[in-house]
This record gives sequence, structure tokens and C-alpha cells, in this order.
Amino acid sequence: MTGRLQGKVAVITGAGSGMGAAMVERFCREGARVIAADISGQQNAVAKSMGDACLPLQVDTAKSEDIRRMLDTAVSHFGRLDILCNNAAVAGELGKTGDYSEEEFDRVWAINGRGVFLGMRYAIPLLLKNGGGAIVNTVSIGALVAFPTMPAYCAAKGAVLMLTKTAAVEYAAQNIRINAICPGTVKTGLSMGMPKEYIDMALQGMPMGRLGLPSEIADIALFLASDESSFMTGAAVVADGGYIA
Ligand SMILES: NC(=O)c1ccc[n+]([C@@H]2O[C@H](COP(=O)([O-])OP(=O)(O)OC[C@H]3O[C@@H](n4cnc5c(N)ncnc54)[C@H](O)[C@@H]3O)[C@@H](O)[C@H]2O)c1
Repeated sequence: MTGRLQGKVAVITGAGSGMGAAMVERFCREGARVIAADISGQQNAVAKSMGDACLPLQVDTAKSEDIRRMLDTAVSHFGRLDILCNNAAVAGELGKTGDYSEEEFDRVWAINGRGVFLGMRYAIPLLLKNGGGAIVNTVSIGALVAFPTMPAYCAAKGAVLMLTKTAAVEYAAQNIRINAICPGTVKTGLSMGMPKEYIDMALQGMPMGRLGLPSEIADIALFLASDESSFMTGAAVVADGGYIA
């Protein structure tokens, strides 16, 4: 442990697997105490390996009452809230815009879009009480370039990027920094659940010729959550092996 987040309390959603689980590990190793929130139940195993520094919590980020319980638990269990990583999301069903089901669009939006708004909505008042803090939203390069057949996913990610920028400007003077990470294709359950041709297409467009690793995204989250990024807010940090370049 080197203490880059010593004394900080963080809430990480989607903490049961992939990038969220990697963030839990990185943040705890750097001295943070962490609420590991996920809907899957897998957060329990992730938290267990971190000992007392991590508390797992079953949370559906599409539900306002769950978001509020999650943030309140950070304060009641660890005494404060300094960092929120809005990382949970689903890929959603695949289909072109002209065929896409309304119900699936609403489901994806509720988790990937509205859920992030709820996290920010209820975290910001708690951060203001501490005199500031950091929010890190896991977005996607799907907020910047099209992923055909993922209209709901791309629309929600685009919206979250603008939520990030809007709130960043609103709260910059009150010492809350809000940034987004835009990963390209990273090797996680979400991407490995996509048809093989998607992965092949992503790899073809990737100058680095390989998928990203969850730990590589967790390192960016750590930087954005820590005081090392003290002059950054409203930024979209792209980590995509060169894909959109
Ligand atoms: N993997 C990629 O290639 C890629 C690329 C760009 C962006 N992202 C983004 O990275 C983030 C993390 O995804 P990942 O790739 O690690 O995938 P993942 O599937 O491994 O992790 C996502 C986690 O979110 C949880 N989750 C889903 N719905 C939830 C809900 N309603 N409430 C609480 N938890 C919920 C899942 O249970 C899962 O543990 C997501 O925001 C995703 O959109 C992923």
C-alpha cells in the first residue's frame, strides 16, 4: 500500500466484476475504505479479499432508494463520502435503431443513464458537506463514436458524458471534481458476452492489437479519484489502445 487514497471513503458501483472489481482492489490497496456495490452478489467475494477496508452491498443502481441507501451506508459505516465511481452498466440487447425494442431502451437507460444521474444527484450533497470530493463516471468510447446495433448503450453513454461535464462546471468552485473515463474494448464479462465478430472488429481497429485490461482502467480511476488529478474536471479520458485516433 502506498496511500494515494489514504483516509478517503469511496463508493464503487458494478464492483462485482471487471473494471469495478479492479477499482475496489486498487482503491483499497491505496488506503481507501470502499463500499463495493453490485446487483450480482459477486461483490461479496471481491470485498472479502479486502478485509475490513471493504463493505459489500447489494444495490440496483436503477433504483433511487438503493442509490440513497448505498451512499448513506458509506457515511454510517465509514463516517463520510469522498469518492463515487459510477461504473455499473449493461450492454443491452443488440439491434439497429429501427428495430430496437422500447422496453429494452428504457431498461438500458435506467441503469446506464438515469442510474448515473441518481448517483451524482445524491452524492453531491454529501460531498459538499465534506468540502468537496471526486466523482468518476465510467463512460465508453461509445459516447464519442458509434457502435452500430448498440443505440441504447451509446445514447446513455453520450448522455452521461454530458452529465459529467455539466455537473463538473456546476461544482468546480465547490471543490468537487467530476471526470469521465472512456474505455475502448476491455476484457471483461460485458465485452466477452458480445458476439465474436464484435471483438474481432474492435481488435482490427485497435493499433495496439490487444484488448484493454480492467486493471488499466482502474489505474485511471485511481488517478482521477486522487488529488494527483487536482486540476482536472469535466474531462473525458480516453483509454482505447488507439482505436478512435
Ligand atoms: N468492457 C468493455 O469493453 C467496456 C468498454 C467501454 C466501457 N465499459 C464500461 O465499463 C463499465 C464496467 O463494465 P465492465 O466491462 O467491467 O463489465 P462487467 O459486466 O464485468 O461489470 C459490470 C458490473 O455492473 C453490474 N451491474 C449491472 N447492472 C447493475 C445494476 N442495475 N445495479 C448494480 N450493478 C449492476 C454487473 O453485475 C457487473 O458486475 C461499464 O460502465 C461499461 O459500460 C466497458
